Amino acid sequence: MEIEEMTADDTDMGLFDAMYHCRAMRKLDTKAVPEAHLMKLVDAANQAPSGSNMQSGRWMIVRDPAVKEALAELNRAGVEAYIGPMIDNPGSLPHQDQEKRTRMMQSVLWQMEHLHELPALIIACMDFGVKADAAMMARGGGSIWPGIQNLLLAARALGLGAAPTTLALQDQAAVAKVLNLPETMGAFCLIPVGYPLGKFGPVTRKPLSEILRFDQWD
Ligand SMILES: Cc1cc2nc3c(=O)[nH]c(=O)nc-3n(C[C@H](O)[C@H](O)[C@H](O)COP(=O)(O)O)c2cc1C
Repeated sequence: MEIEEMTADDTDMGLFDAMYHCRAMRKLDTKAVPEAHLMKLVDAANQAPSGSNMQSGRWMIVRDPAVKEALAELNRAGVEAYIGPMIDNPGSLPHQDQEKRTRMMQSVLWQMEHLHELPALIIACMDFGVKADAAMMARGGGSIWPGIQNLLLAARALGLGAAPTTLALQDQAAVAKVLNLPETMGAFCLIPVGYPLGKFGPVTRKPLSEILRFDQWD
């Protein structure tokens, strides 16, 4: 199917269904995803708002095995640094019960081992127009994450698995080298996309009673 032919009507999933069932899906099949679907995801991301409507978001779809390998190596370094201390510390992530915590860590480790085999890695970037520094990167997030969430919801609606990840992108100079980014661009999120091996299901979140107050906090 050509991208021009795909409209929101091609999916019958309601918006709220998609929002409430948009789990981070890390275990993905190696089966290729049609290019039109990948482009549709980026098109959905591109509909999101940005500060002053600057539209500085830039998106890359990585399918080249060598580029995927290089990103997988960066991810491995990030995951090992993050997960290592958590495995040694049973008190980490105390907001999640032991079973969920173990399941999440196992899926992060699965993704680390298989990232290079997954059909497509979408990289959410921003082009600042001038050399990007840390302060710009910190401020810029607000204008790229709405697009990332749009992309995740669109993937869910199309029956594709996806997960937002950042651990591969900690060394921006290394990422820029792998992706041949100009110095005006920063990379914010790496989203592996493919057909899910795991099951879609509802997300588990804190109750409103914990996270919502009216008018005054205390
Ligand atoms: C800013 C941000 C960074 C994240 N970085 C990673 C990451 O590097 N690796 C990873 O496996 N998941 C990453 N995630 C996914 C979260 O772990 C996931 O969204 C969270 O555990 C909720 O999962 P659920 O939607 O399946 O309940 C990230 C999510 C966000 C919003």
